Amino acid sequence: MDLHIGISEKNRQEISLGLARMHADTYAVYLKTQNFHWNLTGPEFYSLHLLFEKQYGDMAEAIDEIAERIRTLGYFVEASFGALKKMTGVKEEERVLSIKEMLLSLIEAHETLICHARKVAEVADNEKDFATVDMIGRRLGAHEKFTWMLRSQL
Ligand SMILES: [Fe+2]
Repeated sequence: MDLHIGISEKNRQEISLGLARMHADTYAVYLKTQNFHWNLTGPEFYSLHLLFEKQYGDMAEAIDEIAERIRTLGYFVEASFGALKKMTGVKEEERVLSIKEMLLSLIEAHETLICHARKVAEVADNEKDFATVDMIGRRLGAHEKFTWMLRSQL
């Protein structure tokens, strides 16, 4: 059944594609944060272990919200490891990092996500998809706050 919410199919598709990349980026930063929650060592272990847990918990909820926005716009969500890896712009780590390297890697990952998500919000705003703009605005606020917290540990 067709959707009649005042956003054309072409525009819904364009926004959904942007959201799919944002979904994959959020999954990638989520996994990176959880990886570091598990593998960090050093005198700041406990405070960073908890900070990372708080941040990946927030991202777990966001992953669901972004996926459900894609469904609301009328598209299916690609959610295999292979598809997410192809879509994301976030770089993976293949070894265990020092705390400083972990913080720098997370900041870079959040910033990659932020810069792409901001472009999607601009497209959604041009196409009067204010619900998507609102959701991305909240996600930008969260990720920008995370980068501040991570940067403050350096
Ligand atoms: Fe844990």
